[in-house]
Amino acid sequence: MSAVLACDACGHRFAARSPRVQCSCGGLLAVRHGWARTGAGLRSLFDRRLRGDAGGRDSGVWRFREMLVPDRVRLVSHPEGNTRLYRRDAVSAFAGVADLALKHEGENPTGSFKDRGMTVAVTRAAAWSASAVACASTGNTSASMAAYAAQAGIPALVFVPAGKVAAGKLAQALAYGARTLMVRGDFDACLRLVREASEALGIALLNSINPWRIEGQKTIVLEMLQQRGWEPPDWIAVPAGNLGNTAAFGKALAEARELGLIRKVPRIASIQAAGANPFHRSFRVGFRRRFTVKAETVATAIRIGDPASYDRGVAAIRGTRGVVASVTDREILEAKAVIDAAGIGCEPASAASVAGVRQLVRRGTIRPRQSVVAILTGHVLKDAQTVMDFHRGGHRRSNPPVEIDARVSAVERFLKGR
Ligand code: F0G
Repeated sequence: MSAVLACDACGHRFAARSPRVQCSCGGLLAVRHGWARTGAGLRSLFDRRLRGDAGGRDSGVWRFREMLVPDRVRLVSHPEGNTRLYRRDAVSAFAGVADLALKHEGENPTGSFKDRGMTVAVTRAAAWSASAVACASTGNTSASMAAYAAQAGIPALVFVPAGKVAAGKLAQALAYGARTLMVRGDFDACLRLVREASEALGIALLNSINPWRIEGQKTIVLEMLQQRGWEPPDWIAVPAGNLGNTAAFGKALAEARELGLIRKVPRIASIQAAGANPFHRSFRVGFRRRFTVKAETVATAIRIGDPASYDRGVAAIRGTRGVVASVTDREILEAKAVIDAAGIGCEPASAASVAGVRQLVRRGTIRPRQSVVAILTGHVLKDAQTVMDFHRGGHRRSNPPVEIDARVSAVERFLKGR
């Protein structure tokens, strides 16, 4: 195993153990691996670990460590990953594809996929003896970073947009002990601020522009492929905000193909909220122009107008013959109600993936006989307020709570009234 950090923009290389997360030219750094093992050998090592024959079963991230980090370091692991694939007839019927599986990343220890990137990024930060770690966040990144930093004993500093973070997420950051700054501005402003502040103050930046975050998030795709016996689906649908996941999925698939873990590359469908869709706008003009928007959506996790991993997102879509779509808040909330009522549940941003599949099936881009894996990125309890507002809001799928007197007759009256 060997690896270097290479700049996407100028190609400059740094040692993999360097604490840098950005190049001096401003470009993003990516981990470039030199593989020691490939193909069937690597696949059987991963499968032996999954069965528990080779240790390393507990973490669905570190099971794939040969594809993540070049060296043996002390892991900061919860553990994490090992999330399930669900099939539910009601969700398949709603989306219009029979072969639809939902990979529920909300089952990670802090309730979102961020734990997969964070275990790798905090492991690296601990190895450099970072004095503190920082991130900008719409909520989930900060919850995850706070938990992993607490485990590693590293002070954590969080920048969130004031008033635009779901209560469950903010509560986690506070509970896990991160110093939390509510910035008067949106996520994009928070990210600009933390990029400057971390550089000036020598704090390790753990947003998804950190190359090690991307390495960890690749394992969403690797684990899904392994769960399917290394038989790729036709499509992977993923909600998209800052484009860290879209970038990580593209890298995972390119590497899995290069290593001979898979032969066919699934197509990525990257789904944005209509009120926060700069990537979709660029897709519509063949990526000839980069857009930014003033973002607004009920799915606060993806309320992002200027995605940091734009170039990598473009590469991921091009490299997988992928597509980008956007769905309205109404479509997001309806898909969420269907996923929730199937007994699975997810936060609003997560439902964008299923809403996007439904739209792409209706448009004829995804065919009803194709196989699709949709990623649910966060847990239903992250944003309880949106659930309550929806069910009290008189929608077709609303299930409002009803207050009654403590008498059997009142229960009877309620049941008859239905
Ligand atoms: N879904 C959820 C639940 C998220 O929290 C995020 C991102 C995304 C989807 C989009 O992923 O940014 O990789 O395209 N949340 C970040 C945060 C921005 O700060 O928690 P992406």
